[in-house]
Amino acid sequence: MNFRSSHCGALRAKDIGQRATLAGWVGSRRDHGGVLFVDLRDREGITQVVFRPEKHAATAGVAQTLRDEDVIQISGTIAKRLEGTENSKLSTGEIEIVADDLQILNKADVLPFPLDEQIANEDLRLTHRYLDLRRPGMAANLRLRHRVVKTVRDILDADGFWEIETPILSKSTPEGARDFLVPSRLNPGNFYALPQAPQQYKQLLMAAGVEKYFQIARCFRDEDLRADRQPEFTQADIEMSFVTAEDLFALIEKMFVAVFRAAHGVEISTPFPRLTHREAMDRFGSDKPDTRWAQEIVDVGDIFAGTEFKVFRGALDSGGVVRALNAKGLAKITTGQIEELTEMAKQFGAKGLAFIKCENGEWKSPIVKFFTDAEKAALQERLKMEEGDLVLFGADKWEIVCEVLGRVRLRAVELIGLTHDPKRLDFLWVVDFPLLAWSDEEQKWNAVHHPFTRPKAEDLPLLEAKKYAEVRAEAYDIVLNGVEIGGGSIRIHEADLQSIMFSILGISEEEQTSMFGHLLKAFKFGTPPHGGIALGLDRLVMLLAGAESIRDVIAFPKNNRGIELMTGSPSPADFKQLRELSISSTKKA
Ligand code: AMO
Ligand code: AMP
Repeated sequence: MNFRSSHCGALRAKDIGQRATLAGWVGSRRDHGGVLFVDLRDREGITQVVFRPEKHAATAGVAQTLRDEDVIQISGTIAKRLEGTENSKLSTGEIEIVADDLQILNKADVLPFPLDEQIANEDLRLTHRYLDLRRPGMAANLRLRHRVVKTVRDILDADGFWEIETPILSKSTPEGARDFLVPSRLNPGNFYALPQAPQQYKQLLMAAGVEKYFQIARCFRDEDLRADRQPEFTQADIEMSFVTAEDLFALIEKMFVAVFRAAHGVEISTPFPRLTHREAMDRFGSDKPDTRWAQEIVDVGDIFAGTEFKVFRGALDSGGVVRALNAKGLAKITTGQIEELTEMAKQFGAKGLAFIKCENGEWKSPIVKFFTDAEKAALQERLKMEEGDLVLFGADKWEIVCEVLGRVRLRAVELIGLTHDPKRLDFLWVVDFPLLAWSDEEQKWNAVHHPFTRPKAEDLPLLEAKKYAEVRAEAYDIVLNGVEIGGGSIRIHEADLQSIMFSILGISEEEQTSMFGHLLKAFKFGTPPHGGIALGLDRLVMLLAGAESIRDVIAFPKNNRGIELMTGSPSPADFKQLRELSISSTKKA
């Protein structure tokens, strides 16, 4: 006999009168004077089962011993529910099964937490993740993730891509984070690095003539964790030969159309808007702008060209900017909240956060007394200031003002209490990233994406002239609702240009040979022009699921201290293991 004749989400009114066998978990139980109603749940849904002592006394007797999450199998007759007891929220809500047989397949102990309630303690959920994943919402996330990955595979397969696995025990690729290292027993004192991304391997596959590669790739980065960051995560990693950025944009847009159709049944429109990095920073103060809120950062430097207000004067005279953001409707902000915003601004390098509240027909502000009537009129017009608005100012170096007002802008949305339409999908390409960024801390130039990113052809003279800050890269990010869900670039494929790039990054010739000799050699043996992109699959599924954290779309994530609580990893290694690996630990666990 089969374990079951159908799933718990399958039976409908048309099945009334037939027999069914179901298997699953005991959800809620309700005892109506000896008649026991059980919600039987499996992956596909819930079916109400009734145990009637007047009809099947023995079975109903056993049913009285059932507890939450016992695993059972029942057989019985599909019946229409009594008039008025239908449940329109359930797909099976018109019927119930009158059980005449019950097998208890496994008893469950008292649960550490109820499965039908929101549990604020995430660590408790993660410790018993297998229970947490039984909840319909979490199961839906796993299903959604499967659907997205399957669609990505199908689209790329149809386009001639080959899925190729690259090593997990590999050599470090600098993606900007710390590596996880794995000691080699066979080569004492030597370490593999877990890949931060398959970047070099996928480029070497282009050298190998593969032309179109993809991989649902696990990546490992030892960095501080946040809601949208895990130490191991998954990329839909793509690389192609003989392509321009335009070809890649078209492919990725086609893929997103398919993914959103499959996952949500919605049609998204393409092509996605594009912003240059400069524009994104100017208007939104972010390289991953959330454009769902229309308010933008506006330059007001010209309005205050002749100002006597020392804060603005100082910024302008030292080559900086004065910019403002109209946080529409936020004049109701409390003094405490203003202080919080100011603190945040200072944390990101600002010296203060000047503001104007438009309240009761006047401007309330510690700084308007320094403004002339002409400045006030121009400001009012430029920022379209109205009753109820709060205008916030940044006066400093361009980079600081962008960063600060960008952060303030995001926090303002929260303070206003704005909720975005959950159906709204603001896709955006951010293009023309700078190639290099100066690090004050390290006193050196770093790659903004990674060292394999191609400078824009028209900016090569700037590179030669060592005007590194001005060189733009053939690099792009894809952003959805303010979250960076992917990034990539056209690559350097010539050994000499790659070597120049490494040198600018402070990598000596010896280091170039020891760390990247394989790549430089491959470039000398006929590597085609190529480029690619990697999509952050966890982040994409998080957005599709409407989840707050990528942990909600990963089966067994690490918590924010990097611990996988269910199995308790990481854990101490025993002495013998360490000795075999020629490792000695300086820390007692
Ligand atoms: P990048 O480092 O931008 O590019 O990564 C690509 C995308 O991966 C996601 N992502 C993460 N998701 C969860 N947790 C993390 N810790 C994490 N880090 C990154 C982001 C990001 O946009 N090799 C290049 C791609 C290329 O050039 O083709 C790379 O890895 O959504
Ligand atoms: P102060 O004259 O220093 O008290 O500053 C007057 C107002 O300008 C205060 O509200 C400060 O928070 C604000 N402020 C000071 N420096 C800056 C700056 N660089 N950018 C924006 N606002 C500032």
